[in-house]
Amino acid sequence: MKTVIAPSILSANFEQLGKDLQACEQAGADWIHVDVMDGHFVPNITFGPLIVEACKRATSLPLDVHLMVNEPAHLLEAFAKAGADRLTVHVEACTHLDRTLQLIRSLGVKPGISLNPATPASQLREVIDQADLVLVMTVNPGFGGQSFLPYTLRKISEIRGMICDRNLETWLQVDGGVSEKTLSSVYSAGADAFVAGNALFNHPSGLAAAIKGFRDILGEK
Ligand code: DX5
Ligand code: ZN
Repeated sequence: MKTVIAPSILSANFEQLGKDLQACEQAGADWIHVDVMDGHFVPNITFGPLIVEACKRATSLPLDVHLMVNEPAHLLEAFAKAGADRLTVHVEACTHLDRTLQLIRSLGVKPGISLNPATPASQLREVIDQADLVLVMTVNPGFGGQSFLPYTLRKISEIRGMICDRNLETWLQVDGGVSEKTLSSVYSAGADAFVAGNALFNHPSGLAAAIKGFRDILGEK
């Protein structure tokens, strides 16, 4: 199975973001995960389109932008123009999720749907076919470095079942507390795209060793 490793720049060193992005690229990361937080949907504030634009200049890796933002529709065009390759929105944050997904696609960007830990997989039932990616939060969104919530494994399996039953090619991404300790369990449950911040950027042996460690666990070279 093809897998994707996406370092979350939430844990990067912002004094040298360009350098860290280059390091991700050299270490063989697949996508760069950008966590946008609005201070309402989640209690923290991070970055907007300006930083996405700067990332675009600093790396040729696809930018996987995770919008932890209430009613994000009015911001989508700005993020698309800034260079987002993927825009993932939360079901809990979109009153008109169908319209929001259509809008993302019309901007030439791949749409993703994210679920908080407490949100059931059934919320995807009517719309999963419209998404290129489903993101299962494995911690409560808002901060890096939190502990993985094991009960989310059942939901990952359930969504993998949905994807198989409908013959979809949707990426099944996990985000939060993904590390050398938890990677094999989320992989076995059916995830194929792995976001990690703390476990990659703060690994004692460095980013390249951390990504190699992930690949070894996933059984790749
Ligand atoms: C959490 C963010 C995550 C976060 C993951 O709200 O969506 O992308 O950066 O960080 P770690 O891997 O440190 O749990
Ligand atoms: Zn994220």
